[in-house]
Amino acid sequence: NNIKNIRIALDGPAAAGKSTAAKKIAEKLGFIYIDTGAMYRTLTYKAIKNHINPKNEQELYDLLMNTVIELKPGKEGQLVFLDGHEVTSEIRQQEVTKNVSDVALHQLVRSEMVKRQQELVQNGGIVMDGRDIGTAVIPDAELKVFMSATAEERARRRFEEHKKQGIESDFQELKAEIEKRDHIDSTRAVSPLVKADDAIELDTTHMSITDVVNKVTEIAAERGATS
Ligand code: DC
Repeated sequence: NNIKNIRIALDGPAAAGKSTAAKKIAEKLGFIYIDTGAMYRTLTYKAIKNHINPKNEQELYDLLMNTVIELKPGKEGQLVFLDGHEVTSEIRQQEVTKNVSDVALHQLVRSEMVKRQQELVQNGGIVMDGRDIGTAVIPDAELKVFMSATAEERARRRFEEHKKQGIESDFQELKAEIEKRDHIDSTRAVSPLVKADDAIELDTTHMSITDVVNKVTEIAAERGATS
């Protein structure tokens, strides 16, 4: 292959700290960070606005084919644009979070998203996070990491994150939502969330973000990353 730098695939369940870690790993290596969940969220956001049922595969696919999703690096992480308008914070709304796993179930939607994501990876020098990056998007990635943590710990982190942002939330409700999403993401027929055979598994339940970032950048250097 003719890539210029290595490709890091970061997968794992909801709220495992992937995006926080991925952002910092990319910063440290001078790589580009690509959050693929944001693409599924953006389509979900547009579908809700257009009153399209997340279970309607054909209508979602038609919508996607008429949708431009752009990810651009910003000062504080990735900015997301839907048809030219910024939707970075809108796609984090609870309404989107609740419906995104259903949108991401469909074969037609996934194959188009995977195709778009593969175009973003071309030259390497990227950290991409999602659910199927090591298994479907970049099956030949130089480094694959599968980040996990207990549902309890992930709900706790999300709760703290919300608190910092001034959003009030119910811990049990957050945990239930995370477990529900885990279930849908892991049991879907098309590229479910599973650890790739050659992925390094990091159980982050008792790891700090700094530990995770250091560990991954260390292995990345061993795999030939040049920053
Ligand atoms: O990482 P996130 O929570 O923003 O992802 C939102 C949803 O999108 C997640 O519940 C499953 C789906 N997703 C996916 O199916 N494949 C990806 N590569 C990324 C996200």
